[in-house]
Amino acid sequence: MSYTVRKFDAVIVGAGGAGLRAAIQLSEAGYKTAVLTKVFPTRSHTVAAQGGVAASLGNSEEDHWHWHMYDTVKGSDWLGDQDAIEFMCRKANEVVVELEHYGMPFDRLDNGKIYQRPFGGHMSNFGEKPVRRSCAAADRTGHAMLHAMYQRNVKVNTQFFVEWMALDLIRDPEGDVQGVTAMDMETGEIVAFHSKATIFATGGAGRIYYSSTNAFINTGDGVGMAARAGIPLEDMEFWQFHPTGVAGAGVLITEGVRGEGGILRNSNGERFMERYAPNAKDLASRDVVSRAMVTEINEGRGCGPNKDFVLLDITHLPPETIMKRLPGIHEIALQFAGVDALKEPIPVVPTCHYQMGGIPTNYRGEVVIGVDSTPVKGFYAAGECACASVHGANRLGTNSLLDLLVFGKSAGETAVEDLKKSGAHKPLDTASIDATLARVNRLNTQTGGSNVHETRLAMQRTMQKHAGVFRFNELLKEGVTKILEVADDVARTEIKDKSQVFNTARIEAFELDNLIEVAKATMISAEARKESRGAHVRDDAIDNDVTPNGRDDQNWLKHTLWHRDGNRLEYKPVKMKPLTVDTIELKKRAY
Ligand code: FUM
Repeated sequence: MSYTVRKFDAVIVGAGGAGLRAAIQLSEAGYKTAVLTKVFPTRSHTVAAQGGVAASLGNSEEDHWHWHMYDTVKGSDWLGDQDAIEFMCRKANEVVVELEHYGMPFDRLDNGKIYQRPFGGHMSNFGEKPVRRSCAAADRTGHAMLHAMYQRNVKVNTQFFVEWMALDLIRDPEGDVQGVTAMDMETGEIVAFHSKATIFATGGAGRIYYSSTNAFINTGDGVGMAARAGIPLEDMEFWQFHPTGVAGAGVLITEGVRGEGGILRNSNGERFMERYAPNAKDLASRDVVSRAMVTEINEGRGCGPNKDFVLLDITHLPPETIMKRLPGIHEIALQFAGVDALKEPIPVVPTCHYQMGGIPTNYRGEVVIGVDSTPVKGFYAAGECACASVHGANRLGTNSLLDLLVFGKSAGETAVEDLKKSGAHKPLDTASIDATLARVNRLNTQTGGSNVHETRLAMQRTMQKHAGVFRFNELLKEGVTKILEVADDVARTEIKDKSQVFNTARIEAFELDNLIEVAKATMISAEARKESRGAHVRDDAIDNDVTPNGRDDQNWLKHTLWHRDGNRLEYKPVKMKPLTVDTIELKKRAY
């Protein structure tokens, strides 16, 4: 099998928010930059982000980046690195204003300033009461953002490779990164993209679960490639379940609905969040709300014939507010639940939404390895595939769009700094290319193997049952055995159609190779973490004064690193020291 080589200064994998933001930085600096993407950039999953991007602009009421930082540390259940969190919250206003200057059509207040709405866990004055911090373009913020940044990239001559799938990271014997191998989905051609800087911005991997708000393209490609290239994955046990996926469909109903005044109710019509989070109520952080919903359902207060969902009620809001601020939600409720949200509540259930862990990076966007966080030369990552780590054990809503802007820009800036100091391309190491060719060849010649669709379903059902909203010791142990069995099947997948042109069966098989790395990392890291923290809540965690809510700071205030080789785990310390302010000290997390 043959391949060709193409040379760039920088290669970015993924054209969602993080990839587009990083590309602007590199192309504006004059570097020859390629962006590889499985779908047209404006169809990347960032398009599905609805409610807003967090920044303490204070346009409607007083706000401060330090309050935002406090909320983010608390939201993370103290697992977030405080240097990265300070960096992100301080940079928020700058990146939002930049976006506005790129042409982003934010909603406006009467005085012309950007409209901001409240969101879960975002509070004024170090936890006092909900604050308006999420800058919104109706309930289509991600859509507007992608268009603004794609147009900016066209202006600065970024070169897009649309409908290309990256297959493997090229890493030389010294461990330096030299680009990626990729397949042109239209022709099946294999190309080695040889670069001095490689940035992964491949988004999430929510498709490891059976029920997910994630697009079908969210298959953890960057995370899988990194794992195969020997980069350990950080904090993969932490997955966010968004409280309001449409029951039965999984499609996202933005938390912005509750930000605008929507209320969750059980079968008795009770506003049950008052019992679980007396202060923030429906605007408590997502892990808290999701667990409350599952508890209501498990205790028999769910709605519908099977009592398996709760209701999101906005019928008390003025119809003009709904149609102006939440037009997309009105449409989604009609299409996916058959409900006119102006008149009836929407049936909702917690649905897998976001991976808090990922490829370890520092706040400069450099990929780092080991307990000492040593940077990998030539390799950067940003957005959901990366773990900076600003979200720790639980992310606050609208901090994801902020993360991809801040760290997309930061990864781009760091790559530009490094490119300025770099010489010519190092000679291309061919061992990684051979590995790609072997993978393609295996799939082209496999007979008597496993079916891709059935194997993926087995993985998704295993993840849903064994590593869901609540986690159980016995189920986790069993889950590890089961997911390793599924991994054996993934290694021998077979496709009947071996053709070259737009062979989507082959693409799905390669995607499954990536998903399974994410699934293994998740299950093995989750089984090993013997405490409850943020989104990881297990039945056997001990709850006392030393370990509030089952959190065990004495033994588990540390990041997990999962190595694909031997499924080995190691742990590294949480960075408790911010850049300029005092540490936000550990305390019990309540809303
Ligand atoms: O609810 C939402 O609009 C989702 C936002 C987010 O995940 O940040």
